[in-house]
Amino acid sequence: MNYINLKSRAKINLTLDVTGVRDDGYHELKMIMQTVELYDRVYIKKIDKPYVKLKSNLEWLPADNRNLAFRAADIIRSMYGIESGVFIELNKSIPVAAGLAGGSSDCASVLYGMNILFGLKINRQDMAKIALKLGSDVPYCLMRGTALAEGRGEILTRLNPCPQAWIVLAKPMISLSTPAVYKALDSIDIDYHPDTEAVINAINAGDIRAVADGLSNVLEAASIPMCPMIGEIKAELIKNGALGALMSGSGPTVFGIFDSKKKAAVAANNIKAKFNLRDVILTKIFNA
Ligand code: C5P
Repeated sequence: MNYINLKSRAKINLTLDVTGVRDDGYHELKMIMQTVELYDRVYIKKIDKPYVKLKSNLEWLPADNRNLAFRAADIIRSMYGIESGVFIELNKSIPVAAGLAGGSSDCASVLYGMNILFGLKINRQDMAKIALKLGSDVPYCLMRGTALAEGRGEILTRLNPCPQAWIVLAKPMISLSTPAVYKALDSIDIDYHPDTEAVINAINAGDIRAVADGLSNVLEAASIPMCPMIGEIKAELIKNGALGALMSGSGPTVFGIFDSKKKAAVAANNIKAKFNLRDVILTKIFNA
């Protein structure tokens, strides 16, 4: 096998709770992660040259060590003494720096793909360790589906699949720095924490309305003051018939949950026009 074609899917957070700050500066998290259908395409090919070469459909996206997919290939080459190189082509559809784990998901695909292409037989535990070195969301992106993520994000418990629903993603035209959002949170008194158990119970009961009722992300308290449009888009999604709406990850993307594709499509059009946004995407829950 000389090449592999993979789909790297985006994620949303149904809940995101911060339960403490660790000595290393990272935050202790408790969050329910959910994969959505939206994906980037990742093509990985072995090459004779002794380096990693990366190309993407976005000319402004870093194609070097600043790109997590590049770093994933580099780390695997050095850890497993691989002399030949790889050519990686990213065809991105997931908005970048958006709270949707697009970069982490591409990175997870490169780890998975290199393992297969070079017949490395890396076991799940070692793979999870390498993934965490690359980023807090990467271990989950290897797992996908519905999961509870704790610790930095690497302590993963598989949950029952979230009931199917249509999802509208809407990204304000700004980027928020994840470290800046977490840092801002440190000086805020969190007055409301998600009821994670209630959302898990709703998932177990197959009750998408109750899942939507329980959506909650403590990082909104830090992100919304930096980007008030997050709050405005949430309100507009609800006005357009969403069962619930929330910011994903550290933002700025907001998602709405819908029980009808038609309602979701109309909402997506309205929001795109009203806020003059480029990235408004209709997708759905994905459970492999
Ligand atoms: O692990 P990753 O590089 O993806 O994290 C990006 C940033 O997000 C970290 O530098 C940190 O500021 C913040 N973070 C955090 N606690 C976590 C995960 C991320 O504070 N559990």
